[in-house]
Amino acid sequence: MEVVVIGQGYVGLPLALNAAKSGFDVTGIDNNAEKVSQITNGVSPVEDIINEEICTILKSGRYRITTNLSFDADVKVICICVPTPLGSDHKPDLTALKQAVIAAGKGLKPGMLLIVESTISPGTTRKILLPILLETSGLSEEEFHLAYSPERIDPLNKEWNIKNTPKLVAGLTDEAANLAREFYSKFIDQVIICPTVEVAETAKLLENSYRLVNISFINELAIFCQKIGIDINEVVKAASTKPYGFMPFYPGVGVGGHCIPVDPLYLAEVAREVGAPSRFIQLADEINQAMPSYFVERAKQIIDGVKSKKILVIGLSYKPNVADVRESPVISLIEQLRKSGAEVFWHDELVASWNGQESTPISADFDLAIIATPHDYLELSALTDVPILNTRSSV
Ligand SMILES: NC(=O)c1ccc[n+]([C@@H]2O[C@H](COP(=O)([O-])OP(=O)(O)OC[C@H]3O[C@@H](n4cnc5c(N)ncnc54)[C@H](O)[C@@H]3O)[C@@H](O)[C@H]2O)c1
Repeated sequence: MEVVVIGQGYVGLPLALNAAKSGFDVTGIDNNAEKVSQITNGVSPVEDIINEEICTILKSGRYRITTNLSFDADVKVICICVPTPLGSDHKPDLTALKQAVIAAGKGLKPGMLLIVESTISPGTTRKILLPILLETSGLSEEEFHLAYSPERIDPLNKEWNIKNTPKLVAGLTDEAANLAREFYSKFIDQVIICPTVEVAETAKLLENSYRLVNISFINELAIFCQKIGIDINEVVKAASTKPYGFMPFYPGVGVGGHCIPVDPLYLAEVAREVGAPSRFIQLADEINQAMPSYFVERAKQIIDGVKSKKILVIGLSYKPNVADVRESPVISLIEQLRKSGAEVFWHDELVASWNGQESTPISADFDLAIIATPHDYLELSALTDVPILNTRSSV
């Protein structure tokens, strides 16, 4: 059975490869020519997937990748996994998603199943994407199947992967939902049908808003713990011994990546529109945005002001062991330190190069080192007597 996956990034590539491994004949489509040529040459753009896996699947003939957005009439399933970021106005930007849906609509034939995996606001599938598909395909609503299935992938999570993480699906019709379940069941252990697409859309936003709110709360509590001189991580560890009703979250410079800082604002936008604004999301967003300036103040206290001081920020990506700098709060930390007059360098061998700058080796040649994102590979002994500010702790 032929399957097309539009968008071959953190979400779309694992989906395409797993579908291919389970026997589907998969075409990955991506409008980034560089990424397409990289994957065609067997080089993985994401940390979770090793080059050998791509090479094996390419050789099997069950997977290919192209920039060509058109696909043939034998395709049975089209999945859309393109980015849904925030625009410069901090509001949902559906440009890529609409482009992909228009391309899909042009190739849509009767009986095809189209599944949207990109994270979207409640109502987007039915009110925005369906009309685009009707217009571009010339088909009626009854002639094709439209489903929504949010992705839950957590890059580098060794325990939970695409196969063993339960998958939500919902369709505009029962048939669409059942077809989507049938498709995913070939390579995912548990597929759960939600009553409506709006439930599935909102469930994804709830999951990530829940993380944002709780991480913000722990960051707020870390500030309190620092003031009274105790370690927030010891507090979380102690509270985690409760076998029910508690889930641990950990402190840091803030939240980053394509999901946690972004998705809750998709929910907040609709909440405002319908007159039920989410004060929790707004407050959590404010607290996280303020974390970098809190650490600038801590840095000032530790080395008696940061003006003209040499500071090394360690770990640029948004979470340990990945090279992804999207929405990384460490960038804001660096910018604010520079605004305060510090001479700031950063070290991150996984990111290696960012914004025209290269990763700086760890050495004793600094007035302060700030541990922002603690990658496993880090070896800090070269700092010798350099004072350290650890953003992952309150002591
Ligand atoms: N990264 C995660 O951990 C994660 C987890 C769950 C859900 N999501 C959601 O999944 C969606 C995709 O996120 P991602 O992290 O995979 O993004 P990504 O940037 O890693 O990958 C998206 C890919 O889509 C391509 N693309 C963009 N516009 C296109 C178009 N019009 N046609 C064809 N290709 C196009 C890009 O070149 C890119 O390679 C987003 O809505 C995101 O919120 C992401």
